Formats: sequence, C-alpha cells, structure tokens
Amino acid sequence: MEKKEDLVVAVEYLKKAAEVVEKELDRYISVQEPEVIFEAMRYSLLGGGKRLRAALAILAAYGEEELAIPAACAVEMVHAYSLIHDDLPCMDNDDFRRGKPSCHKAFDEATALLAGDALLTKAFETVLDLKYNPLMAARELAVAAGAEGMVGGQVLDLSFENTEITYDELKKIHSKKTGALITVSLRLGALAAQRESLLAKYTLYGNNIGLAFQITDDILDVIGDPKKLGKTLGKDKEQGKSTYPTLFGMERSVELAKEAVAKAIDAANGLPGEEILVGLAQYVLVRES
Ligand code: IPE
Ligand code: IPE
Ligand code: MG
Ligand code: MG
Ligand code: MG
Repeated sequence: MEKKEDLVVAVEYLKKAAEVVEKELDRYISVQEPEVIFEAMRYSLLGGGKRLRAALAILAAYGEEELAIPAACAVEMVHAYSLIHDDLPCMDNDDFRRGKPSCHKAFDEATALLAGDALLTKAFETVLDLKYNPLMAARELAVAAGAEGMVGGQVLDLSFENTEITYDELKKIHSKKTGALITVSLRLGALAAQRESLLAKYTLYGNNIGLAFQITDDILDVIGDPKKLGKTLGKDKEQGKSTYPTLFGMERSVELAKEAVAKAIDAANGLPGEEILVGLAQYVLVRES
C-alpha cells in the first residue's frame, strides 16, 4: 500500500543516511601523499549526491543499520568513480556534476581517470570491513560494477549513440548501467545483516526502482531544473543517446517509470522497513535532483 506519509518518512530516512555516510566516507578517505589523488577522490566523493545507493544498503539492514555502513560507503565509492569516468570527454563529455565542475575540469583528465580507479579499488577495501559476509559482498559488488553490470551497460550506452535501438536493448542498457549498482546496494545491505533469505525480494525491488530511476534521469535531462540537478541539461540529445524519451516520448516514459515503481512497491511487501522502501520507490518518481 502506498501512502503520502511514506514519501515524507523516506526522504527523512534518506537525509539521515546521507549524513551518516558522509562522515564515514570522509573518514575512509583522508588526505595522504600524493595529495592530488586524494584531493580529487574527495572532490568527487564528498559533499554532494543524494546518497540513494548508500541509503538502500542501510535500509536493507533495517533495524541493524550499523552493520551495513561499509557496504553503504563502498557502493557510493563505486558510484562516484562511475560518475567521474562517465563525465570524461571520451564518454559523455560533461563539464558539470553535482553543481560544480566535473573532476576532469577541476583537476585534469589523467587525475580524474586515476581518481576513478582509486575509488573503485578503495570500495573493495571498504566492503571487506563488513562484519558478516564480506567476501560474498565483495564478489557481488565486483559482478555488479564490472563488464556484466555497470561497465557493460556503459559500453552499450556508448555503442547506441546515434543508432536505432529496440525496447529490449534500451531496457538492458538501463538495467546494467544503473540497475545493477542500485540492486547490489540492497543486496549488500541484506548480506551485511545476514538476511540471505530476503535477497530475491530485494533484487526484484532493486531492479524495478533501478529502471524507474534511470527513466527519470532521462526525463530530467530534458525537463529538469539544471540548478536542482547540478548537471547540464540536454546532454542526451546533444550526444545522440538512446533514452526512454527518445524511444517513447515523455508521457509514455512517465507511465513506464510508474509501472516499474508499482512493481517495486509490490516486491517491498513484508520486507523490514517496508514503508520506507515504498516511500523511496515513490521518491524515485518525483525527485528533482
Ligand atoms: C546519476 O546518479 C547517474 C545515474 C546512474 C543516473 P544519481 O542521480 O544518483 O547521482 P548523485 O549521486 O545523486 O549525484
Ligand atoms: C550514467 O547514466 C550511468 C552511470 C553508470 C554513471 P547517465 O550518463 O545518464 O548519467 P548522468 O545523466 O550523466 O548523471
Ligand atoms: Mg552516461
Ligand atoms: Mg552522463
Ligand atoms: Mg543522464
């Protein structure tokens, strides 16, 4: 069941999770020698971002949230790395991210590339801090982030620039480039709290909010408020990206995002912290940043 209050409670939960994770991330990456690489990592990792993936990891350990902190930090590190590389001139060529110059603009391309590499590797060091199931979590994170998951999705995303795409191919891009990391965030949180029996439900929930999240990202690239988004608008069109709005138009894209969210809400039934899972699924649809 969906209630308006769920959205409010979920946004509050997201905010709290973001605060906790911000502090932990700051602690995980302190400036050492050579300073420039740590500065670049911190520049892209700290002080920005909604922390949705971190909040999902923490939420999947609902009631025992503390256990999931290393997982929450690890997924945010992988995410920040993916954004640094996504913005590089050889990929989406985006000069703005989280309301400030992209990493390669604030530093240089080589430093941005290496900051991404360093965040990815730091994520694995971090996830191994989990009290329960660290190795299983590391393996899952590796698969979700790599060529079978996010990286594979990014490859497909680039290969379908200025090219006709089918619905199945577009769904595959979105589920790999964005869905994989969102789903694994939940799975890592569940593993952290030894909730192996709930993994299938978290996966179903995650796959659906992941899809809705990327459809909304495509929509916001067309009609969002650049100030709230902290990114340049119209980039997908400029780069000839295959997106939900290009394939289906705006109205149908919104409907498809809503359908995915409805499936996520069904999957949340009976899970710990169900109301917050429902609220976060609703949030994915109405978010402006
Ligand atoms: C942006 O992710 C990249 C996508 C996968 C769409 P977010 O919109 O979660 O970015 P931040 O972390 O809040 O900046
Ligand atoms: C990015 O998708 C997905 C990633 C894995 C980083 P987009 O390229 O649409 O993300 P934005 O719009 O640049 O944040
Ligand atoms: Mg991209
Ligand atoms: Mg991009
Ligand atoms: Mg986008």
